[in-house]
Amino acid sequence: MATSAQYPSLRHRRKRRWGWIREMVAEHRVTPADLIYPIFVHDGEANEPIPSMPGIDRLSIHGAMEVARRAEGLGIPALAIFPVVDASKKTDGAEEAWNADNLMCQATSAIAELGLNLGLVCDVALDPYTSHGQDGLVRDGYVVNDETLDALVKQALNQAQAGATVIAPSDMMDGRIGAIRRALDKEGYQDTLLLSYAAKYASAFYGPFRDAVGSKGNLGQGDKRTYQMDPRNTDEALREVQSDLDEGADMVMVKPGMPYLDIVSRVKSSFRVPTAVYQVSGEYAMLHAASQNGWLDGDAVMLESLVAFKRAGADAILSYASLEIASKL
Ligand code: PBG
Repeated sequence: MATSAQYPSLRHRRKRRWGWIREMVAEHRVTPADLIYPIFVHDGEANEPIPSMPGIDRLSIHGAMEVARRAEGLGIPALAIFPVVDASKKTDGAEEAWNADNLMCQATSAIAELGLNLGLVCDVALDPYTSHGQDGLVRDGYVVNDETLDALVKQALNQAQAGATVIAPSDMMDGRIGAIRRALDKEGYQDTLLLSYAAKYASAFYGPFRDAVGSKGNLGQGDKRTYQMDPRNTDEALREVQSDLDEGADMVMVKPGMPYLDIVSRVKSSFRVPTAVYQVSGEYAMLHAASQNGWLDGDAVMLESLVAFKRAGADAILSYASLEIASKL
């Protein structure tokens, strides 16, 4: 029988005895280069706090430019931009989404013109622009797929034109990656990256985001379960990722984050492609709320959550805590 070292000659705790050895054997680390910072931009002169997301503001375009400079300075590689669209501009058909002078385009081009070494990730989905709050067009009470694709393509081209370097479809319609890739290539945007929200679940953790962009009231009692994934499914996430890669996605995303670490792990180990995870608004809100009550150490639980994403296999983490954490790393 092979002899293997066993207790007492083997002691696992030796490698945890001092800080230097713990650093030396650490398998995973979070660095600012892992982070993507999602920001909200509104059509106002001043930044405005979002009550359900402590520390996060709806930024003016000027405020967004400042944040972009700070993020680049901290070594964060990319921002994800979300618009807070004025209620008067929301329609059933979401036409504002492809207005070349909309808030999203103004913010994107203002940041792009700073010439920073910073990726600009623009979300493609109609929900900021629809009066019903759905990510797609509604016909007879159903969010239709193919007609929505035409709208998403127009929205994506509009954003690429404004200076988006990464297009991130978050709408979960079938076929949108292929449709957007073909349109981008045709219009000369062959270097614009596609980050697909490939495994996006119909989650209750998006609540504070819907407060932030003001889509909660529009959605009302509606839900997104006919297009976002059922939280009970795992294999289906792999099929979603497979199709998006086949259609031309450069990177894929799993969302939400912490309750879906198994999905991150399976996606990464199955496909070995750049995999992002979104620590969504509800996760951020929970950790901050507990910290504000003195029930958890906010920085410590945030860092621990971020390292959990790395451990699960994530290559990039979208987190509202990116700025606060990067400045402490
Ligand atoms: C919309 C979109 C959502 C988020 C990102 N893009 C909300 C939703 O699907 O209703 C959620 C992000 C978060 O909760 O932080 N397509």
